[in-house]
Amino acid sequence: ALVPVITVDGPSGAGKGTVCARIAAELGWHLLDSGALYRITGLAADRRGIKLDDESSVAQVAAGLDVRFQPTPDGVLTILEGDDVTTTIRTEEVGSLASQVAALPAVREALLQRQRDFRSSPGVVADGRDMGTVVFIDAPVKVFLTASAEERGRRRHKQLTEKGISASLPALIEDIQARDERDSNRAVAPLKPAQDALLIDSTSMTIDEVCDQIMTLVRTAG
Ligand code: C5P
Repeated sequence: ALVPVITVDGPSGAGKGTVCARIAAELGWHLLDSGALYRITGLAADRRGIKLDDESSVAQVAAGLDVRFQPTPDGVLTILEGDDVTTTIRTEEVGSLASQVAALPAVREALLQRQRDFRSSPGVVADGRDMGTVVFIDAPVKVFLTASAEERGRRRHKQLTEKGISASLPALIEDIQARDERDSNRAVAPLKPAQDALLIDSTSMTIDEVCDQIMTLVRTAG
């Protein structure tokens, strides 16, 4: 039988990363962080001095990525060409590189098989923007996780404050709204719920409540 997949798509800041990691741990399944692949591609292309509008060169980088995800007791390390880039790929700068390369159809195509290869027994939880609409169309469980831009801005603000980084909340909310607009209106793989996805609005929910709702869905689907 086909290996089961849970897809979790939605805008950044909706809580996908935390929720997917919890569910994967609870089920003992693999985790695909597809955003990390776009971040790594953006970083690798940038390091080689490739212009991010040079679609075929960036796609070549994506197709040939030498990346490893190395589990450690403190979490998974991301190793690009032997170099630990775990924290580097989480910066705003690399996030911006990622969204630029993610707009290139040839790059998305180059990463398609690599993402599908994560589908191995006993199952995979896939976190992204197009997991249920493009990469795993046949997934038995699909979730679209969202939250208001204001709430996502507040969460981001809290994260930054905890890291000792000061930021303006209104500016963060504006950034989020602009990115939503770009992600939803781009020509390739726009951010939208799959027809058969369960919509969860996490604006006034805790992480536990979101995970419980998804686990209920998994049990009824299984
Ligand atoms: O989720 P994360 O913030 O790590 O994703 C980084 C960027 O990669 C997103 O802003 C989005 O533009 C892109 N992305 C995508 N498709 C995915 C995952 C991420 O286009 N499946």
